[in-house]
Amino acid sequence: MVGSMNRYEVLANAMAAEIRSGSIAVGSRMPSLRQIIAQHGVSQSTVFRAYCLLEEWGLVRAQERSGYYVAPGANVTAARAPHVAALAESSKVDISDLVFSVLDAAKTPGIVPLGSAFPSPHLFPLPRLAKSLAQASRLISPWSTVVDLPPGNEHLRRQIAMRYMGMGLSQPMEEIVITNGALEALNLCLMAVTRPGDVVAVESPGFYAALQAIERLDLRAVEIPVDPVTGLDLDALADALKKHPIRACWFMTNFQNPTGVTLSLEKKKALVELLAQHEVPLIEDDVYGELHFQPEYPVPALAFDKQGLVMHCSSFSKTLAPGYRIGWTSAGRFTDKVQRLKLMTTLSASIPVQAGLADYLQHGGYDRHLRKLRAALNQQLSEMDSAIGRWLPHGTRRTHPSGGYFLWLEFPEAIDAMELHRLAIEQGISPAPGPIFSATHAFEHYVRLNFGHPWSSKIDDAIRVLGDLLGRPSVRAK
Ligand SMILES: Cc1ncc(COP(=O)(O)O)c(C=O)c1O
Repeated sequence: MVGSMNRYEVLANAMAAEIRSGSIAVGSRMPSLRQIIAQHGVSQSTVFRAYCLLEEWGLVRAQERSGYYVAPGANVTAARAPHVAALAESSKVDISDLVFSVLDAAKTPGIVPLGSAFPSPHLFPLPRLAKSLAQASRLISPWSTVVDLPPGNEHLRRQIAMRYMGMGLSQPMEEIVITNGALEALNLCLMAVTRPGDVVAVESPGFYAALQAIERLDLRAVEIPVDPVTGLDLDALADALKKHPIRACWFMTNFQNPTGVTLSLEKKKALVELLAQHEVPLIEDDVYGELHFQPEYPVPALAFDKQGLVMHCSSFSKTLAPGYRIGWTSAGRFTDKVQRLKLMTTLSASIPVQAGLADYLQHGGYDRHLRKLRAALNQQLSEMDSAIGRWLPHGTRRTHPSGGYFLWLEFPEAIDAMELHRLAIEQGISPAPGPIFSATHAFEHYVRLNFGHPWSSKIDDAIRVLGDLLGRPSVRAK
C-alpha cells in the first residue's frame, strides 16, 4: 500500500495521467507488461491489475494477443467548454437564494463536504498557529489598536510583501491593505471602481460570491465563458469590452473556482494588455495560488501590470487559517480608495490576529507547512480521480487541475445537477451543483467536487452513492 492506495492503483493513476495529458496518442499501443515491470520494478499481477483498472475507466482497450491500446476519447476527459457565450446583454443578478439554500444544506453536521469551499481543518497547523497568536497577544503594544488600523499591521504587510518578492514581484508594502479575508478585499476593490448600475465582467462558470457582490451593489454582470482546459475566453472578453461599458473585471487566473483551470502566462499577459487598452481595472482573485502542485507559484496577472490597474486579492483562508479571516489586496493605483473604504465599512481586521499571523509567517514554518499541504492535496486528487473512475458513469468528464482542491465534473446533458444535489443531501453528501456558479443558473449538468479532505472510505462511499444517484430516473429526467 502507498498511502491508502494499492500499488496497482498508484501505477494505474500514473499511466492514466500520461494518457490524459495526450503524451500517449489515442490508438497507440501501451507499453507491454514486461516493459512496465522493468521500468517500475513491480510484479506482473500489479501491472495486470493496473491495466484492468485503466480498462474499467475507459482509458485503454485490450486486443487479444496484441496488448493494450489507448481508447478513443481517452485523453479528452476534461470537461468541454461550456456553451455559454458572453451574455449579449448585461444583466441584473439574482443568485443569492439559490446559493444560500445550497450553502445551508452543506452545514448539516456529519455531511460529506464534497461541496465545501474549504479544505479540511486537519490539514492546518492549528497548535503552532495558536502558539503564535498567544505569543503575539502577550507582546502586543497597547498602541497597536491605533497603529495597526488600515492599511494594517506593518509586520504582516512586510511578510506579505516578502512573499510577493519570492514570486519575483516587488509589491511595495504601502500598497498592501489588510482585510477580513479575501472576500472583503474583493468587495472593497469592486466598490472602489464601480457605482450602482455599472457593468462588471465576471467568469462563467465563476465564484458565486462575485455574483452576490454584484447583486448587493446593484451592478450588472456580463458573463465571460471559461474553458475548463484553457481558461477565460479572451476573444469573448474583447468583444464584450467593445459592446458594453465594462467598468471592472473580477477574474481568477490561478486554479479557478469552480473549474480549477489556470491561465497560461501568455494569456495572463494578453489579459492585462487588453484591459490596459480599455483602461479597465482587473480585480484578480488569487486565493488558491499558493496551492500549486508544480514546483513554482503560477505568477499572477499582476506581474504584467504596468499601470496599477490590477488589484491582486488573496488571503490565508485556503492555506492556513480560515477562521482568522485575514486577507489582503495589493491594490495599485486604487490603494488609497480601498483603504478609506476599509475604514468606512469594518474599520480594521482583528489586531491581535494580524499580529499572530505576522509572528507565524516569520517563525512558524509556513513554507514547510505549504509543501506538506500541497503534497496532501495532490495525493487526495489522485484518490478522487480513482474514485471517479471507479464509481461515476462512463462519459463523465472532469477537469485536471494542477493545484487548489476543486474538480469540475460534466455529466451527460440529461442530468439535473440540482436534483442530484437534493437527493445527495438526503444521503448526507453535499456536492456543489453547477447552477450556483452562473448568473443565468446555467451548468445544469455540472457539479464541483472538493478534494481538500484526507481520503477516507466515507468519501469513497459518497462518490459511489453519487454514481448510484446519477442512475435515478428523476436525475436523468431532463
Ligand atoms: C474563489 C474564492 N475567492 C475568495 C474566497 C473568499 O476567501 P476568504 O475566506 O479569504 O474571504 C473564496 C472562498 O470560498 C473563494 O473560493
